[in-house]
Amino acid sequence: MAAAASYPSTSWRARSSLTPFNSSLQPQVRAPRIAVPATRTEARSQVAPSAMQSSSTRHRLEAVSHDHKTIPERLAVVTGGNRGIGLEVCRQLALQGVTVILTARDEKRGKDAVESLCHESSLSNVIFHQLDILDDNSRASLARYIESRFGKLDILVNNAGVGGVAVDQDGLRALNIDPKVWLSGKAVDLIQSVIVQTYDEAVKCINTNYHGLKWVTEALLPLLKQSTSGACIVNTTSLRSELKRMPNEKLRNELRNVDIWDETRIEVMLNEFLDDLKNEWLEEAGWPTMLPAYSMSKTVVNLYTRILAKRHPEMRINCVHPGFVNTEINWNTGIIPPEEGARGAVKVALLPQDGPTGCYFDQTELGEAW
Ligand SMILES: NC(=O)c1ccc[n+]([C@@H]2O[C@H](COP(=O)([O-])OP(=O)(O)OC[C@H]3O[C@@H](n4cnc5c(N)ncnc54)[C@H](OP(=O)(O)O)[C@@H]3O)[C@@H](O)[C@H]2O)c1
Repeated sequence: MAAAASYPSTSWRARSSLTPFNSSLQPQVRAPRIAVPATRTEARSQVAPSAMQSSSTRHRLEAVSHDHKTIPERLAVVTGGNRGIGLEVCRQLALQGVTVILTARDEKRGKDAVESLCHESSLSNVIFHQLDILDDNSRASLARYIESRFGKLDILVNNAGVGGVAVDQDGLRALNIDPKVWLSGKAVDLIQSVIVQTYDEAVKCINTNYHGLKWVTEALLPLLKQSTSGACIVNTTSLRSELKRMPNEKLRNELRNVDIWDETRIEVMLNEFLDDLKNEWLEEAGWPTMLPAYSMSKTVVNLYTRILAKRHPEMRINCVHPGFVNTEINWNTGIIPPEEGARGAVKVALLPQDGPTGCYFDQTELGEAW
């Protein structure tokens, strides 16, 4: 893994959030002071043999006593941590010595996931807390728990998400779509018989992927402000959010200019999108037609990331596309394992205090989405 180097703060800040990143700048991205395991096997080999023993030791070493409470040096919350990419983000952060609150909407699935991390990777620094990101009480309960037990939060990984379509999985498998065609968006006609964008699924998708993420962030922001190491928020996005995929040129240009957007304007746009979807007017109005609701939900996740980054320059707030990862969200059609898909979020979660903010990462590298 690349050597440690600190980010020159001025150049990062100067290039922050609001202008699209030119990929020619990418070579300047240096790996933060971490070694992110590429695979679970590598992760194991990095900690073993001394340890398996040492990850928990490191965790204990990081803890400092404060007002009779044990406060970890770095505390992270991961949403949707019970499976897929979220579970691997929890594992890799914990292997880096971060105390992780693995959250899941289902208590049993979440506790089983913590148990699996404890047994498979000998991690004792992963705690379970229930969180349904769409439930007010659940979000408030998590915030109260963190406030009373730790008084602060350092890292929030907004990972939970849904695909937002109804799928005939056997039919999709039978089509045997080339991943390159799938990723290019050219499969839109091919999949029409097996993937259906219903209005109800679209509402659920936007609610979960955007509103849920925003509500969790709002609930935990007061705790992130208490971080002494400079908080990090990582929002999980998708290449479906890239503005080059947005057919409506006027909207595409408007979306590039973060200065004209706020949460209210985002709501207006999403309502227009849902109205057009209901009236079967998507193509005519120039909305994305490949996984429309999912694409729009991630487009606004990017926008919200940039709005927040501008509002909270003291934090690093970025979005990450994990790659085409083999998980349930894409009916296990992805081409990289969750271990690899988690690496981007982990790298961005551990960025140094003067690291980039308001940016889009395509896996572990800066990318261009707007
Ligand atoms: N896989 C890919 O190729 C890919 C590509 C781009 C972006 N992403 C993004 O990566 C993130 C993780 O997806 P994944 O691939 O790991 O898919 P996944 O295996 O389907 O995991 C999705 C996770 O989100 C959780 N979730 C859904 N709704 C929730 C809610 N209301 N409250 C709390 N948790 C909720 C699920 O919990 P349950 O187990 O309870 O359902 C599950 O833990 C998503 O944001 C997705 O959009 C994935």
